[in-house]
Amino acid sequence: MTGGTRLVGEVAVPGAKNSVLKLMAASLLAPGRTTLDAVPDILDVSVMADVLRGLGAGAERDRAGGRIVIDIPEVVDGTADAELVRRIRASVAILGPLVARRGEARVALPGGDAIGSRALDIHMNGLTKLGAVVDVEAGVLVARCSGRLQGASIWLDFPSVGATENLLMAGVLAKGTTVIDNAAQEPEIADLCALLTAMGARIDGAGTATLLIEGVEGLRPVLHRTVPDRIVAGTWAIGALMTGGDVTIRHGRAEHLGIVLEKLAGAGAAVELLEDGFRVSASGRPRSIDVVTLPYPGFPTDLLPQVIALEAISEGISLITENVFDSRFVFCRELHALGADLRTDGHHVVVRPTPRLTGASVLASDVRAGAALVLAGLVAEGTTEVRDVHHIDRGYAHFVENLTALGAEIRREPSSAAAA
Ligand code: EPU
Repeated sequence: MTGGTRLVGEVAVPGAKNSVLKLMAASLLAPGRTTLDAVPDILDVSVMADVLRGLGAGAERDRAGGRIVIDIPEVVDGTADAELVRRIRASVAILGPLVARRGEARVALPGGDAIGSRALDIHMNGLTKLGAVVDVEAGVLVARCSGRLQGASIWLDFPSVGATENLLMAGVLAKGTTVIDNAAQEPEIADLCALLTAMGARIDGAGTATLLIEGVEGLRPVLHRTVPDRIVAGTWAIGALMTGGDVTIRHGRAEHLGIVLEKLAGAGAAVELLEDGFRVSASGRPRSIDVVTLPYPGFPTDLLPQVIALEAISEGISLITENVFDSRFVFCRELHALGADLRTDGHHVVVRPTPRLTGASVLASDVRAGAALVLAGLVAEGTTEVRDVHHIDRGYAHFVENLTALGAEIRREPSSAAAA
């Protein structure tokens, strides 16, 4: 891509990756056809659909229409394909539903982005509390339970998104009451609660730190619309600010981006709330801001690389602190190659102002780092090449097409799978 153009126009935000993958896993809880709408056209959805097919489910996808219909048989298989599971971390979300429905689940230790160690102890401890016997056997997580899971009180050591979701999906079919305390409060979890409740689950406290679940004996399939992707919306907002642009982010839910929009306003963005979305515009050099990531409603770790890219071109010094993952700063090396002045120390990075970024060939190490490098390339002098853009495909539907529509000078090279 060639830097120097402003992003101007309108972009539509699809359903959230980190919601839809769990909604797809939740479909395992009810035999029959679950229909999900606002499904983003991203790679991880294809992989998750294959994971479900491997368990005996049907999955028919209308990519253009953003719909997937998942057909769950009366008896599902309990062993997930190891190669597929290792490709996406979210596949661990089938563990709770499978053990609840079949009394046994075998899921290879999942993969995902290279952003940290990403343990599963909170998932395992919680399932144990619900009466499952959980072990790791030759790299495969095995959860077994004779008869129904039993409701229990579970206090999470950390408000893990994935563990909250797994325990919620296990708890809805457990016998009796389950309480999950110090639960994650991300909008994607509220979305999962909405789906489960529509399916017949009894859940109190959706979107709060305490989830109270009265187990039921069975659930029914429903039609559900996925919550819009707040990380994609936030990425467009940061892009508008960095390029001094003016972008209307259709379907973006400003209420899910409270602290993010507040910070961007502090950096000089004008944020206007619209009926179905919001608009972000800016001019001149952004002012520096300090950011600390925390579980929701704190600043999301999934917007950290994008904000570091923003700080690289802002005036003033900024201090960024990452509290959720231990290796998210790997990508700073690539930003440094574009001329950013960054110094990392443990879970902090200090970003100093630099007169300009200059184009270079850089590597996307994960989905958010990839998006951040593209934003940096849009403001760098000359040409930037981002390699390994398949990572971006995991979370951003039609990224290059959307950027082109907003005025960016960018193209995707089919043979090398790079955006240049
Ligand atoms: N953790 C543990 N033990 C556990 C579970 C988590 O130590 O049993 C630690 C992790 O190692 C990590 C931290 O807790 O350091 C947060 O993990 P969490 O379980 O909350 O995250 P996740 O479920 O693995 C989801 C998103 C991530 C997002 C995080 C935090 C999906 C598929 N992934 O991951 O999204 O960063 O929540 O909000 O929902 C992305 O989309 O780019 C992405 C990485």
